Amino acid sequence: MKKKVSNEDVYRLLHPRQVVLVTSIGESGEPNIMPVAWSTPLSFSPPLVGVSVGFQRYSHKLIIESGEFVINIPGVELALKVQECGRVSGRTHAKFEEVGLTPKPSKKLKTPIVEECLAHLECKLFKSLEVGDHTFFVGRVVEAYADEKVFKRGVFDLNKAKILYHVGGSSFTTLSDRLLNGGDVSA
Ligand SMILES: Cc1cc2nc3c(=O)[nH]c(=O)nc-3n(C[C@H](O)[C@H](O)[C@H](O)COP(=O)(O)O)c2cc1C
Repeated sequence: MKKKVSNEDVYRLLHPRQVVLVTSIGESGEPNIMPVAWSTPLSFSPPLVGVSVGFQRYSHKLIIESGEFVINIPGVELALKVQECGRVSGRTHAKFEEVGLTPKPSKKLKTPIVEECLAHLECKLFKSLEVGDHTFFVGRVVEAYADEKVFKRGVFDLNKAKILYHVGGSSFTTLSDRLLNGGDVSA
Protein backbone atom coordinates (compact mmCIF):
# COMPACT_ATOMS: atom_id res chain seq x y z
CA MET A 1 0.00 0.00 0.00
CA LYS A 2 1.35 3.41 -0.91
CA LYS A 3 -0.27 6.43 0.67
CA LYS A 4 -1.09 9.73 -0.97
CA VAL A 5 1.38 12.49 -0.21
CA SER A 6 -0.01 16.03 0.12
CA ASN A 7 1.33 18.95 -1.95
CA GLU A 8 2.75 20.33 1.27
CA ASP A 9 4.93 17.24 1.77
CA VAL A 10 5.78 16.41 -1.85
CA TYR A 11 9.21 18.05 -1.75
CA ARG A 12 10.19 15.87 1.22
CA LEU A 13 10.12 12.84 -1.10
CA LEU A 14 13.22 14.44 -2.66
CA HIS A 15 14.93 14.88 0.72
CA PRO A 16 17.34 14.39 2.43
CA ARG A 17 19.20 17.03 0.48
CA GLN A 18 22.53 18.62 1.13
CA VAL A 19 22.15 21.96 2.90
CA VAL A 20 24.28 24.88 1.77
CA LEU A 21 24.64 28.32 3.28
CA VAL A 22 24.07 31.00 0.67
CA THR A 23 25.70 34.32 1.48
CA SER A 24 24.67 37.57 -0.16
CA ILE A 25 25.21 41.28 0.25
CA GLY A 26 23.06 44.24 -0.67
CA GLU A 27 23.59 47.90 -1.42
CA SER A 28 23.82 48.59 2.34
CA GLY A 29 26.95 46.42 2.50
CA GLU A 30 25.55 44.23 5.31
CA PRO A 31 26.10 40.55 4.49
CA ASN A 32 23.44 37.89 5.05
CA ILE A 33 23.31 34.09 5.37
CA MET A 34 20.49 31.72 4.39
CA PRO A 35 20.33 27.90 4.45
CA VAL A 36 19.23 26.38 1.14
CA ALA A 37 18.34 22.73 0.61
CA TRP A 38 17.19 23.25 -2.99
CA SER A 39 20.49 23.64 -4.82
CA THR A 40 21.95 21.77 -7.79
CA PRO A 41 24.89 21.59 -10.22
CA LEU A 42 23.76 22.47 -13.78
CA SER A 43 26.62 22.67 -16.27
CA PHE A 44 30.33 21.78 -16.56
CA SER A 45 31.32 24.41 -19.11
CA PRO A 46 30.63 27.09 -18.21
CA PRO A 47 30.40 25.90 -14.59
CA LEU A 48 26.82 26.67 -13.57
CA VAL A 49 24.96 25.91 -10.34
CA GLY A 50 21.44 26.81 -9.21
CA VAL A 51 19.63 27.71 -5.98
CA SER A 52 15.89 28.10 -5.53
CA VAL A 53 15.07 31.04 -3.26
CA GLY A 54 11.59 32.05 -2.04
CA PHE A 55 10.37 35.51 -3.15
CA GLN A 56 9.90 36.65 0.44
CA ARG A 57 13.46 35.82 1.58
CA TYR A 58 15.66 38.84 2.27
CA SER A 59 18.44 37.00 0.41
CA HIS A 60 16.22 37.09 -2.70
CA LYS A 61 16.35 40.91 -2.69
CA LEU A 62 20.10 40.98 -1.98
CA ILE A 63 20.99 38.54 -4.77
CA ILE A 64 19.03 40.64 -7.27
CA GLU A 65 20.61 43.88 -5.97
CA SER A 66 24.22 42.65 -6.17
CA GLY A 67 23.98 40.10 -9.00
CA GLU A 68 26.07 37.59 -7.06
CA PHE A 69 26.04 35.03 -4.23
CA VAL A 70 28.31 32.49 -2.56
CA ILE A 71 27.42 28.85 -1.86
CA ASN A 72 29.17 27.70 1.33
CA ILE A 73 29.28 24.01 2.30
CA PRO A 74 28.73 23.44 6.04
CA GLY A 75 29.74 20.34 7.97
CA VAL A 76 27.39 18.61 10.40
CA GLU A 77 28.94 20.44 13.36
CA LEU A 78 27.25 23.61 12.09
CA ALA A 79 23.73 22.08 12.15
CA LEU A 80 22.43 24.23 15.01
CA LYS A 81 23.82 27.41 13.49
CA VAL A 82 22.35 26.49 10.10
CA GLN A 83 18.95 26.01 11.73
CA GLU A 84 19.25 29.35 13.49
CA CYS A 85 20.07 31.09 10.18
CA GLY A 86 16.90 29.56 8.75
CA ARG A 87 14.72 30.68 11.64
CA VAL A 88 15.21 34.44 11.32
CA SER A 89 15.53 36.92 8.46
CA GLY A 90 18.44 39.17 7.61
CA ARG A 91 15.87 41.96 7.26
CA THR A 92 15.81 42.23 11.07
CA HIS A 93 18.83 40.19 12.20
CA ALA A 94 22.58 40.53 11.68
CA LYS A 95 22.92 36.75 11.39
CA PHE A 96 26.72 36.46 11.12
CA GLU A 97 27.04 38.20 14.48
CA GLU A 98 24.00 36.72 16.21
CA VAL A 99 24.64 33.13 15.17
CA GLY A 100 28.40 33.33 15.65
CA LEU A 101 29.75 32.74 12.15
CA THR A 102 32.68 34.59 10.60
CA PRO A 103 32.39 36.60 7.37
CA LYS A 104 35.65 36.45 5.43
CA PRO A 105 36.30 38.33 2.16
CA SER A 106 35.75 36.16 -0.90
CA LYS A 107 38.34 36.06 -3.70
CA LYS A 108 36.36 37.57 -6.60
CA LEU A 109 33.12 39.04 -5.19
CA LYS A 110 31.84 41.65 -2.73
CA THR A 111 29.89 38.91 -0.92
CA PRO A 112 31.83 37.31 1.96
CA ILE A 113 32.23 33.58 2.56
CA VAL A 114 31.38 31.78 5.82
CA GLU A 115 34.81 30.93 7.13
CA GLU A 116 33.68 27.93 9.22
CA CYS A 117 32.42 26.09 6.10
CA LEU A 118 34.33 23.33 4.29
CA ALA A 119 34.13 24.73 0.77
CA HIS A 120 32.94 27.77 -1.17
CA LEU A 121 31.58 28.45 -4.66
CA GLU A 122 31.66 32.12 -5.63
CA CYS A 123 28.92 32.80 -8.18
CA LYS A 124 27.96 35.65 -10.48
CA LEU A 125 24.27 35.70 -11.35
CA PHE A 126 23.94 34.12 -14.82
CA LYS A 127 20.16 33.79 -15.16
CA SER A 128 17.01 34.02 -13.03
CA LEU A 129 13.88 31.98 -13.61
CA GLU A 130 10.60 32.52 -11.78
CA VAL A 131 9.31 29.14 -10.63
CA GLY A 132 6.03 29.34 -8.69
CA ASP A 133 6.78 31.09 -5.40
CA HIS A 134 10.57 30.85 -5.79
CA THR A 135 13.20 32.27 -8.12
CA PHE A 136 15.70 29.79 -9.46
CA PHE A 137 18.98 31.72 -9.47
CA VAL A 138 21.56 30.24 -11.82
CA GLY A 139 25.09 31.22 -10.84
CA ARG A 140 28.26 31.04 -12.89
CA VAL A 141 31.04 29.80 -10.62
CA VAL A 142 33.92 32.29 -10.88
CA GLU A 143 36.03 30.76 -8.09
CA ALA A 144 35.74 27.63 -5.95
CA TYR A 145 37.92 26.25 -3.17
CA ALA A 146 37.76 23.61 -0.45
CA ASP A 147 39.56 22.61 2.73
CA GLU A 148 42.39 20.35 1.52
CA LYS A 149 42.04 18.16 4.62
CA VAL A 150 38.55 17.03 3.58
CA PHE A 151 38.49 17.42 -0.24
CA LYS A 152 41.06 15.13 -1.84
CA ARG A 153 41.66 14.15 -5.49
CA GLY A 154 38.46 15.92 -6.53
CA VAL A 155 36.07 14.29 -4.03
CA PHE A 156 35.06 14.72 -0.41
CA ASP A 157 36.78 12.27 1.94
CA LEU A 158 33.70 11.11 3.85
CA ASN A 159 35.81 9.94 6.80
CA LYS A 160 36.74 13.55 7.35
CA ALA A 161 33.97 15.67 5.81
CA LYS A 162 30.66 15.14 7.59
CA ILE A 163 28.46 16.97 5.12
CA LEU A 164 25.08 18.21 6.35
CA TYR A 165 21.79 16.94 4.89
CA HIS A 166 18.27 18.22 5.63
CA VAL A 167 15.60 15.56 6.12
CA GLY A 168 12.71 17.92 6.98
CA GLY A 169 11.68 20.27 9.80
CA SER A 170 14.44 20.27 12.40
CA SER A 171 15.73 16.87 11.31
CA PHE A 172 19.24 16.64 9.79
CA THR A 173 21.60 13.82 8.92
CA THR A 174 24.99 13.11 7.40
CA LEU A 175 26.42 10.39 5.14
CA SER A 176 28.03 7.20 6.27
CA ASP A 177 31.61 6.68 5.06
CA ARG A 178 30.65 3.19 3.83
CA LEU A 179 30.70 3.33 0.03
CA LEU A 180 28.56 0.82 -1.80
CA ASN A 181 30.63 -1.32 -4.10
CA GLY A 182 29.06 -0.90 -7.54
CA GLY A 183 25.75 -0.16 -5.80
CA ASP A 184 25.71 -3.58 -4.07
CA VAL A 185 23.48 -2.87 -1.06
CA SER A 186 23.68 -6.47 0.21
CA ALA A 187 27.43 -6.20 0.96
C1 LIG B 1 17.64 23.36 6.34
C2 LIG B 1 16.92 24.48 5.67
C3 LIG B 1 16.80 24.51 4.29
C4 LIG B 1 16.13 25.55 3.63
N1 LIG B 1 16.07 25.56 2.27
C5 LIG B 1 15.50 26.62 1.63
C6 LIG B 1 15.50 26.68 0.20
O1 LIG B 1 16.02 25.81 -0.48
N2 LIG B 1 14.93 27.78 -0.38
C7 LIG B 1 14.34 28.77 0.34
O2 LIG B 1 13.83 29.74 -0.23
N3 LIG B 1 14.33 28.72 1.71
C8 LIG B 1 14.91 27.70 2.36
N4 LIG B 1 14.94 27.65 3.72
C9 LIG B 1 14.31 28.75 4.48
C10 LIG B 1 15.22 29.98 4.58
O3 LIG B 1 16.55 29.63 4.85
C11 LIG B 1 14.71 30.89 5.72
O4 LIG B 1 13.43 31.38 5.38
C12 LIG B 1 15.66 32.04 6.03
O5 LIG B 1 15.31 32.59 7.28
C13 LIG B 1 15.66 33.13 4.98
O6 LIG B 1 16.56 34.10 5.41
P1 LIG B 1 16.62 35.59 4.82
O7 LIG B 1 15.24 36.19 4.94
O8 LIG B 1 17.62 36.29 5.72
O9 LIG B 1 17.09 35.49 3.41
C14 LIG B 1 15.58 26.61 4.40
C15 LIG B 1 15.69 26.59 5.80
C16 LIG B 1 16.36 25.54 6.43
C17 LIG B 1 16.50 25.55 7.92
